[in-house]
Amino acid sequence: MALGNCKVAVALLLFLSCSSSFYGDARDIITPSQPIKDQEAIVSAGNKFELGFFSPVNSTYRYVGIWYSNISAETQVLWVANRNKPITDSSGMMKISEDGNLVVLNGQGEVLWSSNVSIGFNQSTAQLTDDGNLVMKAGPNGNLVWQTFQQPTDTYLPKMRLSANARTGNKTLLMSWRSSSDPSVGNFSAGVNPLGIPELFIWYNGHPFWRSGPWVGQNFIGIPGMSISVYLSGFTLQDEGDGTFTMSLIVDPASRFKYVLTSHGKFKEQYWDYGKQGWEYTWEAPSTDCDIYGKCGSFGSCDAQNSPICTCLKGFVAKNQDEWNKGIWTSGCVRMTSLQCDRIQNGSQVGKEDGFKKLEMMKVPAFAEYWSYASSSEQECKDECLRNCSCVACSYYNGFGCMAWTGNLIDIQKFSEGGTDLNIRLASTELVADNKRNMKVIISMAVIVGAIAICICVFLSWKWMATHRERKLISEETLSFKTREAQETVFDGNSPENVKEVKLEPLFKLKILETATNNFDISKKLGQGGFGAVYRGKLPDGLEIAVKRLSRTSGQGLEELMNEVVVISKLQHRNLVRLLGCCVEGEEMMLVYEYLPNKSLDAFLFG
Ligand SMILES: *[C@@H]1O[C@H](CO)[C@@H](O)[C@H](O)[C@H]1NC(C)=O
Ligand SMILES: *[C@@H]1O[C@H](CO)[C@@H](O)[C@H](O)[C@H]1NC(C)=O
Ligand SMILES: *[C@@H]1O[C@H](CO)[C@@H](O)[C@H](O)[C@H]1NC(C)=O
Ligand SMILES: *[C@@H]1O[C@H](CO)[C@@H](O)[C@H](O)[C@H]1NC(C)=O
Ligand SMILES: *[C@@H]1O[C@H](CO)[C@@H](O)[C@H](O)[C@H]1NC(C)=O
Ligand SMILES: *[C@@H]1O[C@H](CO)[C@@H](O)[C@H](O)[C@H]1NC(C)=O
Ligand SMILES: *[C@@H]1O[C@H](CO)[C@@H](O)[C@H](O)[C@H]1NC(C)=O
Ligand SMILES: *[C@@H]1O[C@H](CO)[C@@H](O)[C@H](O)[C@H]1NC(C)=O
Repeated sequence: MALGNCKVAVALLLFLSCSSSFYGDARDIITPSQPIKDQEAIVSAGNKFELGFFSPVNSTYRYVGIWYSNISAETQVLWVANRNKPITDSSGMMKISEDGNLVVLNGQGEVLWSSNVSIGFNQSTAQLTDDGNLVMKAGPNGNLVWQTFQQPTDTYLPKMRLSANARTGNKTLLMSWRSSSDPSVGNFSAGVNPLGIPELFIWYNGHPFWRSGPWVGQNFIGIPGMSISVYLSGFTLQDEGDGTFTMSLIVDPASRFKYVLTSHGKFKEQYWDYGKQGWEYTWEAPSTDCDIYGKCGSFGSCDAQNSPICTCLKGFVAKNQDEWNKGIWTSGCVRMTSLQCDRIQNGSQVGKEDGFKKLEMMKVPAFAEYWSYASSSEQECKDECLRNCSCVACSYYNGFGCMAWTGNLIDIQKFSEGGTDLNIRLASTELVADNKRNMKVIISMAVIVGAIAICICVFLSWKWMATHRERKLISEETLSFKTREAQETVFDGNSPENVKEVKLEPLFKLKILETATNNFDISKKLGQGGFGAVYRGKLPDGLEIAVKRLSRTSGQGLEELMNEVVVISKLQHRNLVRLLGCCVEGEEMMLVYEYLPNKSLDAFLFG
């Protein structure tokens, strides 16, 4: 018995000495008896994150922070404790205080930072997890009392939950650094705005600076290029039911992926390129003048491709024409002819019913309301809008429903890609002139487009029938989609110029994909994205593929699927996998990508 215990003890000692020599003498926990001093650090169990003391570039002040281990802290601090009160020398310390809180002290024992929660126990511990979260537990049951993920600085990490509650006003916000050498709270903050349909916002000193456009269940309407990358990663904005909306992101745990709010107010999506040993960024906002909130004022619309960028919506004129001509647009535009509702209320002549002017590929205005009772078709959405005098615009998004606006329409943008249809309510007299002029054009366009569409459909189905047995037969047959430069403004010009056309082999048979993925066997599953699972597979000719099987509950219709196919085919970006084609049979909808072994695929599919 005694011998047995001894053996265990020796084994334990050996194990401890081994593991401590492997990771230096790093531990992952701060306890009342084990504080950390400057030059010391704790490291998460899997050696992914490190917490310790650092100085920013061009600064001699000391701060306590968390960073990815193996990458120098200077270039990528993820969280800072005493951001507003630096330690001026190397005598700082982080420890558990007498009241159980985690504190940062300077050499004189002055408290510079505290987790500042009431605990009631003094035996708390703070442990750094492999998600990059410092978790404080206390009491006999080890209850979680505080964590860094509820008090982020300027960085959003996967597994972190950015939430906001419309009723209580409780929000988790990212707060920018003042400058790259000063982590104290800067002028920008970012988070979820839960008013109306939730959106992501960046604020400048509390005023809106940028917004993502409403979250319509799969993407943000105001981020045309991002919808693809967030689509591939497991990005969600969830309604917790109590008025709280929470943004969360599921990515491959092996990748290093983050969003940072820079001191200049840019929200950047970054991932660590293991090959290049550096941070790469795939997306940032705001990226054009039009992205700045309210650039063109109320009822103005911004188009980055136009000069000047601002125009009044149809049926509206500049409130102050002199200012407008000089390029000062913020005072916006006013309605020329009042709506029928308002005329009735004023007891004047009634006239004909109002109508709508449809604008396409738009970033819809801020503060959309979700009208669940009018959500089954665009026509119902419009009818409902006409029935309500305060409704001035509406938009129907397939698979999501009816959005409506009241009051001033602010922060409207015209995209050259993505976005959605926006219907602006106008008096009938404003629409008549417009309709007559456009009718001829519309009819002739409709005839031509219709004819082309029918031809393509007939051709495709004929092709599909012809290749019923042999997929190979159609391999020379390609569909090509033209690339547009517009997407590159969003993706910062990383797209190679040489790829201007993407060849698609659009139709895969369900049978082939079933065989390739072993009937979507769980062992072939690579991961779960926001809108379905991704499986690995092999075609009969040996080609390795990744199949995204869109879940039927996602409400993604054929139209969205085709949209995604078209948009992906237009994009040639290193963060996107090459799309080989799709499969639509019965209720199954799938996208077939080229499979890229190891980490690159994870980076593609999950961020
Ligand atoms: C640090 O200081 C040098 C010299 O003043 C300057 O060139 C450099 O841009 C600074 N770096 C940062 C990140 O502020
Ligand atoms: C960090 O570096 C150590 C030693 O250089 C290495 O063993 C470990 O795999 C690295 N960890 C990561 C996450 O890169
Ligand atoms: C914890 O609290 C007890 C009683 O309140 C006190 O006696 C003890 O010294 C405290 N321990 C620490 C480490 O502060
Ligand atoms: C702790 O929180 C209280 C109330 O929220 C606040 O008044 C106090 O300044 C905070 N103390 C520190 C050290 O942050
Ligand atoms: C605000 O949110 C935090 C973190 O989710 C939570 O701990 C706190 O209790 C909330 N406060 C209120 C007033 O709801
Ligand atoms: C923050 O905003 C204020 C007010 O606009 C300005 O005076 C100050 O210089 C800004 N600070 C930084 C670091 O940009
Ligand atoms: C309604 O009448 C009031 C006062 O006569 C006037 O100020 C207002 O502009 C009118 N509104 C509309 C929509 O005609
Ligand atoms: C019109 O819509 C607004 C906003 O949704 C709502 O508050 C109001 O009750 C509606 N009015 C009528 C008459 O339905």
